[in-house]
Amino acid sequence: MKNKKGFALAHPNIAFIKYWGNTDDVLRLPSNGSISMNLDNLNSTTSVEFSVDLNKDSLKLNGHVVEGQGLKRVSDMLSIVRNLAEINLHAEVVSNNNFPTGSGIASSASAFAALALASSTAAGLKLNEAELSRLARTGSGSASRSIPSGFVEWTKGEDHESSYSKSILAPHHWKLVDNIAIVSKEHKKTGSSSGHPIAKTSPIQAGRVADAPRRLDLCRNAIIKKDFSALAKIAEIDSNLLHSVMLTSTPQLIYWQPATIDIMRNVQEWRASGVEAFYTIDAGPNVHVISTEGSSEKVVSLLKEIDGVQEVITSTAGGAARLL
Ligand code: DP6
Repeated sequence: MKNKKGFALAHPNIAFIKYWGNTDDVLRLPSNGSISMNLDNLNSTTSVEFSVDLNKDSLKLNGHVVEGQGLKRVSDMLSIVRNLAEINLHAEVVSNNNFPTGSGIASSASAFAALALASSTAAGLKLNEAELSRLARTGSGSASRSIPSGFVEWTKGEDHESSYSKSILAPHHWKLVDNIAIVSKEHKKTGSSSGHPIAKTSPIQAGRVADAPRRLDLCRNAIIKKDFSALAKIAEIDSNLLHSVMLTSTPQLIYWQPATIDIMRNVQEWRASGVEAFYTIDAGPNVHVISTEGSSEKVVSLLKEIDGVQEVITSTAGGAARLL
């Protein structure tokens, strides 16, 4: 039998309404829906080759062989694909990110979205967008949002079938820029996968989850109407709610560095003085400062003046995961 190959690209995404906490940690069914924007300038490219000559799965990430937990997470997705395609072959997976390794930018979303598309194609499956989004979700929750194009909403759903992501609008709808202030390139001590299960230990999580439909409506409407100040307001509150949960979990999670807080304060002042910018922060110290296209240059130069900002990476909205 001939070897079966697939090669795919996916972008990471930045969430304006964040995913944090699961109702099912294995399937990664989220406690709340979320909304994000794909990042055009950043990507993961992944090739998958199923072969009769292999006696186990292997993973090479940015030129380095990965074993242990990292490989297991990939093998788990490959096994779902093997079951669907009714094949019994092992695979060689080679994945590269075009953003620096350990830059502090989360790569699990783009990595598992690219893996879902490359592996299912290699296995001869022709999954539609919803099916790919569900498959990507099982590898990393946020990866379900890196399958569709542009501005994307992940509907919480209540089971594997109903929990997947759809595009709200195409990338060209709104030229927003993510200006990512890199504050630390260190690998975070507690990754998202260990954070989700402890979200429910915070007394704030229940309120955050109960209020999510309201925030999702405000965010979706702000994107549709291109209402920057409405988006800024709801996205900053949502990011602060996420970090309130993290800070009040057991064990507590503190991702911020002094420069993180400095940027948060500054961005609020810049906005008050007319610069269209807001902040949003994931499970790490780096700050995503979202701006309009016209404000991006100003935002980058202002960010570079802040002590502790090592680098600023910019990206506009990006498209769907695609085959190469
Ligand atoms: C804070 O999708 O990285 O970035 O499913 O365990 O891989 P796993 O978690 P992940 O969690 C993302 C958390 C977040 C918010 C978000 O992107 O919505």
